[in-house]
Amino acid sequence: MKSLKYILIIVAFILIAIQLPFFTPKKNISKVKNQIDITDKYDVPMNIQMDLYNGCYDCHSNNTKKYPWYYHIQPISWWMNHHITEAKEQINFSEFGAYTHDEAIEKFKKLQKSMEEKTMPLKSYLWMHEEAKYNEKQYQRVAEWARSMQDNLGKPTH
Ligand code: HEC
Repeated sequence: MKSLKYILIIVAFILIAIQLPFFTPKKNISKVKNQIDITDKYDVPMNIQMDLYNGCYDCHSNNTKKYPWYYHIQPISWWMNHHITEAKEQINFSEFGAYTHDEAIEKFKKLQKSMEEKTMPLKSYLWMHEEAKYNEKQYQRVAEWARSMQDNLGKPTH
């Protein structure tokens, strides 16, 4: 019994220690001016811009809009930060204009697929973000736009 007590004390100590601000990851907020956002290079109708902004930019851009209070709780912050890093590796709308022609086609294709299969926005994100929940029409129009962008970029027809 005594050793269980020690283990609990150690676990409690670790949980408290990791709450130090030192362990909160750096926020995803970029002041870089020369990044080429998707809207700088491609035609993104206003309603699609709003869909992407509300549903995707928190993870897939260089500026997470508003950090929730629970971002200051470890390990939640580590988990969120990991999502943002992974998401940006796949698609970063803030730097989308810098992708090569072939990369852009590939990204638009994945984007279309994620809308058709409704795998994005991430489910865990939707628990806390009502504004990011897409209705049927939003999934469809973003998918359709992503498809048309591939056509514009001259996807080989088959
Ligand atoms: C809470 C964070 C989060 C939000 C919000 C989010 N994503 Fe993602 N997204 C991720 C993560 C993490 C990955 C990488 C891991 C994976 O593929 O599941 C990813 C991967 C992707 C991929 C690549 C998947 C593949 O085919 O490999 C696409 C496309 C994508 N997201 C599109 C979107 C779109 C479009 C939105 C908005 C409608 C969105 N995401 C919103 C976190 C997010």
